[in-house]
Amino acid sequence: MKKPVRIAVTGAAGAISSSLLFRVASGEMFGTDQPVILQLIEVPQAMELLRGLAMELEDCALPLLHTIRIFDNPEAGFKNAHYAILIGARPRTAGMERIDLLTANAEIFERQGKALSANAARDVKVLVVGNPANTNALIASRNAPDLSPTQFTALTRLDHNRAKGMVANHLGVNAEEVRKVIIWGNHSSTQYPDLHQSKIFGEALVGQQLDETFYRETLIPRIQNRGSEIINARGHSSAASAAQAIIDHMRDWAMGTEENELVSMAIVSDGSYGIEKGIVYSFPVRCRYGRYQIVNGLDINEFSRKMMKSSEAELLEEKASVNHLLPKETEQSHYKLRICLRSGKFLAADGLLDSGDPVLETSRLL
Ligand code: NAD
Ligand code: LMR
Repeated sequence: MKKPVRIAVTGAAGAISSSLLFRVASGEMFGTDQPVILQLIEVPQAMELLRGLAMELEDCALPLLHTIRIFDNPEAGFKNAHYAILIGARPRTAGMERIDLLTANAEIFERQGKALSANAARDVKVLVVGNPANTNALIASRNAPDLSPTQFTALTRLDHNRAKGMVANHLGVNAEEVRKVIIWGNHSSTQYPDLHQSKIFGEALVGQQLDETFYRETLIPRIQNRGSEIINARGHSSAASAAQAIIDHMRDWAMGTEENELVSMAIVSDGSYGIEKGIVYSFPVRCRYGRYQIVNGLDINEFSRKMMKSSEAELLEEKASVNHLLPKETEQSHYKLRICLRSGKFLAADGLLDSGDPVLETSRLL
């Protein structure tokens, strides 16, 4: 039996988490041979609700569930965590854009970044889900001077899955056949769902299987605005599909992407594809050995470039509006990803690479 991994989850009594935790404890995230310790974090006023959820988890008698602990603060809750899933934040309601949550939620991620830096395992993998997810991830990362910016990611896998699901539905094929979908940019209505790399049964999607005008004028806005469509229908933002996307994101990051496939993850930009450094932007990536790498060298047409730039502009604006929460001391590490720590040294905490390893000279994997 493997050694248990510690998974910290904030907003643990909320809607997404209630869909997520039972599946994580059943092995759907890291496999049916991987025991888990759940470190569940909530605000003090939700602790009774969280205790109820923890009791239900216990009552499932799941063989992989090693321990459940509940916390009312992130400092204790992140202690030695190998994975941190930051869901806890206010969701938007009908009529709001995700950016409207920026002021309401930003300070949560400042505190959580500090708490992760001081308490989590040195190779912790962090996924930010709470909206606006990209900029919250940037705030957390910039407030974590003793972790690498590459340890912080934000969730755009839900958009990625939405694109696959909608195309599959439209064409009457299984979602698994729809490969190499890319979400560029922000988890917001400026995101760019790019299907130019996708093929079905060897044929290009855009222009062959999908009419170009339908793609641009109907499908793209539908994917971009799916979050609002769900809020309007349910009266609450997506929960079960968000939980599925979290499982997919973490599983692929830890265990690797499928052969001949790429996935979308929002990560600190290293300048690839001309996207400004120092923002958290969604790129096409492949994961191996517990690390992600941007898929470089893809053809970008003029339409795509324009869409990618428009989402970049929104992220730069978001960043400017939270500038007071981005400490100067971590600026350099976010512009020069090779330098991971405030001290200017690499962080190679997983023991796979030493700081002088030449692999780090040419790659931004760590
Ligand atoms: P919810 O209101 O059901 O649950 C949120 C929980 O977070 C609540 O239980 C609340 O008490 C808790 N919380 C608030 N502040 C906290 C803090 N500082 N520390 C710990 N816990 C805290 O909301 P939900 O539906 O679970 O959604 C959570 C967030 O995820 C929202 O911001 C939502 O917009 C976002 N979301 C993101 C995506 C994505 O794809 N990135 C998808 C769906 C939802
Ligand atoms: C979603 O995409 O469903 C979530 O980000 C919730 C929202 O506010 O749209």
